[in-house]
Amino acid sequence: MKPLRTCVFPCAGWGTRFFPATKVIPKEMLPLVDKPILQYGIEEARASGLDKLIIITSKGKESILDHFDRSAGLERSLRERGKNDLLADVESVGQMVDLIAVRQKDALGLGHAVLMARDAVGDEPFAVLLPDDVILSDEPSLLQMRRVFEETGRPVVALMEVPENETSRYGIVAGEMIGDRRFHVSDMIEKPKSHPPSRYAIIGRYILPPEIFPMLAETGQGAGGEIQLTDALRRLVAEGEFYGYVFEGRRYDAGEKLGYLKATVDFALRHPTLSGEFRAYLQGLFGNGKAIEREAVGDDRIAGRGKGTRQRV
Ligand code: UTP
Repeated sequence: MKPLRTCVFPCAGWGTRFFPATKVIPKEMLPLVDKPILQYGIEEARASGLDKLIIITSKGKESILDHFDRSAGLERSLRERGKNDLLADVESVGQMVDLIAVRQKDALGLGHAVLMARDAVGDEPFAVLLPDDVILSDEPSLLQMRRVFEETGRPVVALMEVPENETSRYGIVAGEMIGDRRFHVSDMIEKPKSHPPSRYAIIGRYILPPEIFPMLAETGQGAGGEIQLTDALRRLVAEGEFYGYVFEGRRYDAGEKLGYLKATVDFALRHPTLSGEFRAYLQGLFGNGKAIEREAVGDDRIAGRGKGTRQRV
């Protein structure tokens, strides 16, 4: 078995669930507190021992590559002005990774996006990380999954238990828990309308063998007219052992508005320099009625909407 060193980041979707914000700005570049969403995924992959990083990108998403590039003019300016903390932040992002970029010319679906990485990946196993599935965990979720892959040599997908009434929003696996957070997958169904085979949903982390590529190449349009990764995964399941791993950690769907807001709050509450004041702000908002009233008035003033509109929020 060849070692796992590659991670593919599909970033070529339209991001319609976040319109109009993502009409021009790639959703992967929306900030979660002070880093773009994609940077969390890149840091997770690197902390999981993956150093060949492939971005699937599309027209208009050049800012993704620019973010991880050196910015000589900005660095010089910060150095000259003695802004050493900011300089260190900017330099560390520029030196963090060398990315390989592959264009997906038409957003034909996640399966098609992964297929675009075929030549860059080569004949090796690889991980896929969907950047808008942000996972907050003690140990990087890909590293948790990597252990299962290295022990078994078989494909692994990340799983999360969801309430039964939410199973229709996810790809759901069939099979059985075999202990130690591991699930033996016997089939999977994309967004089951009724009778889900389990309550375990596939989340955006996969470790796959290169054999998936010819399967993807033969996969036609599936649900929603898109080339679905799930359809090719089902063929892998049919050909041999396939595992799910119920990762430890909390997952946010930062590609849609509510999930993004939840992630922003939780990440801000953990931020090394912002958490104290931000927590106090939230306590002021939600701690008691008077404080909530005061914040509403304060916000009105900041927004220049005049005084005295004492609304409760
Ligand atoms: P999503 O469905 O979450 O992303 O796809 P989307 O299509 O951009 O978003 P909505 O649904 O319109 O809001 C999962 C991942 O697959 C990528 C997306 O960028 C996202 O990271 N993707 C999807 C591609 O790279 N290419 C595609 O053709 C489709």
